[in-house]
Amino acid sequence: MQNPEVFILAIESSCDDTAAAVLHNDKVLANVVANQLIHNQYGGVVPELASRAHQQNIVPVVDAALRKANIQKEQLSAIAFTQGPGLMGSLLVGGSFSKSMSAALEIPLIAVNHMHAHVLAHFIDEDGFDKPSFPFLALTISGGHTQIIRVDSFFDMTIIGETTDDAVGEAFDKSAKILRLPYPGGPLIDKYAQLGNPKAFAFTKPKVAGLDFSFSGLKTAILYFIQKQKLQNPDFITENLNDICASIQHTIIEILMDKIKLAVKETGIKQVAIGGGVSANSGIRAALKATEARYGWKTFIPKFEYTTDNAAMIGIVGYQKFLNQHFETASVVSKARIQF
Ligand code: KG4
Ligand code: ZN
Repeated sequence: MQNPEVFILAIESSCDDTAAAVLHNDKVLANVVANQLIHNQYGGVVPELASRAHQQNIVPVVDAALRKANIQKEQLSAIAFTQGPGLMGSLLVGGSFSKSMSAALEIPLIAVNHMHAHVLAHFIDEDGFDKPSFPFLALTISGGHTQIIRVDSFFDMTIIGETTDDAVGEAFDKSAKILRLPYPGGPLIDKYAQLGNPKAFAFTKPKVAGLDFSFSGLKTAILYFIQKQKLQNPDFITENLNDICASIQHTIIEILMDKIKLAVKETGIKQVAIGGGVSANSGIRAALKATEARYGWKTFIPKFEYTTDNAAMIGIVGYQKFLNQHFETASVVSKARIQF
């Protein structure tokens, strides 16, 4: 039986989004994210600026989440926060804030692994979204992570494949940078790709054993290809932008789908759940959906606001940990790298 009256305040500050959410059991009452636009002009996240922006954002973001949820802080059952992995200066802001608030309210403190949260985001109760059953495979794809995870229960997860260099979101963003598109370029590649021919240009796919990924070679291949083409035609990018984007996206999707198909074959598990910012990609969504009719897989894509970095996913892990009385003392430390 679920405890019907658990209210979790969740805080996420691992990278460049300051986020707070309030959950009532597994339902989200409020999910507030303050994006830090300051990084766009630098073409990537600047850790020191991120940490400073978290300090400015955290009080208003938590305040907004509580007001939106329409609950008083005295009603909270516990505070859950991202312990890691992430940028140390960013993690410390959310961690210190959560410790102080749990001490002031005299309620339990719950530490959450950000990567577990991307996986368990599928268990947020949301109309129109099915939850996977155990065991399932989770493909977590974002600007910071690329992992295939075998999930046997809420707390029994094993990484069975991951990137050996760049994350898939970085592959999108760095390719976009070569094409002189603004950061983050992933959504723009997706947009132009929809108007182009995915077979226009061929890029060699990396050969990596097993279920691991590599994306740095692809980025170099794209760079050399563009440099060569520009020698013959300085306007090559502008004249072929849609086709270039479609071809890059097609290659990235093939790399992802080859590995996830191998993971299904090796584990015999046909439920596949994707999460992370790159799961917004229209091509990846379509490729994954197509496996349902073609191979009899069941696939899961969470509501978009729970798939990019957010605090609701921290809250759902917090809720499960609360049910298991898995609490921390104020001596718990933030960790840039964290054991899975
Ligand atoms: O999960 P997220 O918001 O933050 C972390 O990196 O943890 O993911 C952001 C990444 C960026 O690399 C962005 O370019 C990529 O997700 N992204 C996309 C799309 N939307 C976001 N990549 C490809 N196609 C998209 N539609
Ligand atoms: Zn993330």
